[in-house]
Amino acid sequence: MTRPTIRVGVVGLGWMGQAHSRSYARIPMIFPERAYDPVLAVCADSDPARRDMATGSFGFERAVGDWRELVAAPDVDVVTICGPNMIHEEIAVAAAAAGKHVFCEKPVGGTPEQTVRIEAAARRAGVTTGVGYNYRWAPLVQHTRRLIAEGRLGVITNYRGRFFSMYGADPMGLLSWRFQQEGAGYGVSTDILSHSVDLAHMLVGPIRRVIGTMETFITERPRPSGAGTHYDRGRPGDPTGPVTNEDYVGCLVEFENGARGTFEASRTMLGPESQCAFDVYGTRGAAGWDLERLNELRLYLSPDDPDELDTGYTTVLGGDRFPYHGNFVPGSANGIGFEDLVTIEDFEFLSSVHAGREHHPGFEDALAFVSVQDALLRSIESGGWADVVSLRED
Ligand SMILES: NC(=O)c1ccc[n+]([C@@H]2O[C@H](COP(=O)([O-])OP(=O)(O)OC[C@H]3O[C@@H](n4cnc5c(N)ncnc54)[C@H](O)[C@@H]3O)[C@@H](O)[C@H]2O)c1
Repeated sequence: MTRPTIRVGVVGLGWMGQAHSRSYARIPMIFPERAYDPVLAVCADSDPARRDMATGSFGFERAVGDWRELVAAPDVDVVTICGPNMIHEEIAVAAAAAGKHVFCEKPVGGTPEQTVRIEAAARRAGVTTGVGYNYRWAPLVQHTRRLIAEGRLGVITNYRGRFFSMYGADPMGLLSWRFQQEGAGYGVSTDILSHSVDLAHMLVGPIRRVIGTMETFITERPRPSGAGTHYDRGRPGDPTGPVTNEDYVGCLVEFENGARGTFEASRTMLGPESQCAFDVYGTRGAAGWDLERLNELRLYLSPDDPDELDTGYTTVLGGDRFPYHGNFVPGSANGIGFEDLVTIEDFEFLSSVHAGREHHPGFEDALAFVSVQDALLRSIESGGWADVVSLRED
């Protein structure tokens, strides 16, 4: 059976560019029911070694050094943006103007203002957009969404979201683009808080107001001598430079539906290695999920019989009875992993492109996050509560 093709261009073949490229390539094997076939058409990376990898290992038809060539290419339908945050705006705006559908890694822009401009440009161009909020797609997160929608947890009263990563905990970790305003924009309030707030938006709904705090705990880091990521280390005596964005952010929030919540994000705390986690509490039950235990859901359901003694949290293990899981492995407790979520995300995005429909999470959802981030930044500035106001440009 021949299917229509969707020709993909990927900008930036680092961690996430490689993850998306592998994901596009295996969509036919993981989702045989697909209505289209992805083609890895063009990769753009400023690093020649990455360009060699694109054609030699990933099977891209060609690789170019300048992303403008990729955006202008008539044989590219979708542009997937996986470069450092602060280059996203120029690429996304140019891609939308060229009529390409755009998938952009989170948080979309490095600053709220950039995300606002990107969302407006794509909306005006009428292209389909997607954002790399990949944790939405975890089968047990989707299951939690369903439990809440069906009322199984009752009325949601409380929410705790956190993303504690150790990627910046070592003071010898290199001063990569993530630790600098000119490369990343804001620090964790852009980088990883965006995942936590996005999950809460999906599970509980919009946030009404915020009060928060932030801090940079490691203020100097070794400068990279060549290409280096946030997982690479310098050596004692290496020249250092200043960290110019925040390591930690925390806030208390009120949701529009009356629920109360907290969010924290840190890249320097020791201990939690990649805890993108939430606990959601309702009047009939509670659920908790943590990326470090991606294949487990902690679930508390109030018993129908108030005299029931055997109550408490139970652990539900992932399996093929939950959304998407069976596309990867059959049965129960055979786990799936981080990159599988990226494959689900890419399959869903290309399915929306193929169907010509609006996609979620898309730039509208990124705009909802930066509207919260903007309120958080205003709250930190003023020291008081700040209302969330939509930043959408008319
Ligand atoms: N969704 C997630 O879970 C997740 C995880 C990690 C990163 N991210 C996001 O993905 C994006 C990329 O992060 P990463 O960790 O993959 O970065 P990375 O540093 O591993 O890779 C960036 C790549 O972009 C290339 N590049 C830099 N400037 C370029 C330019 N001007 N033109 C073309 N290529 C250029 C680099 O050579 C490199 O190959 C960021 O926006 C980040 O926030 C998302």
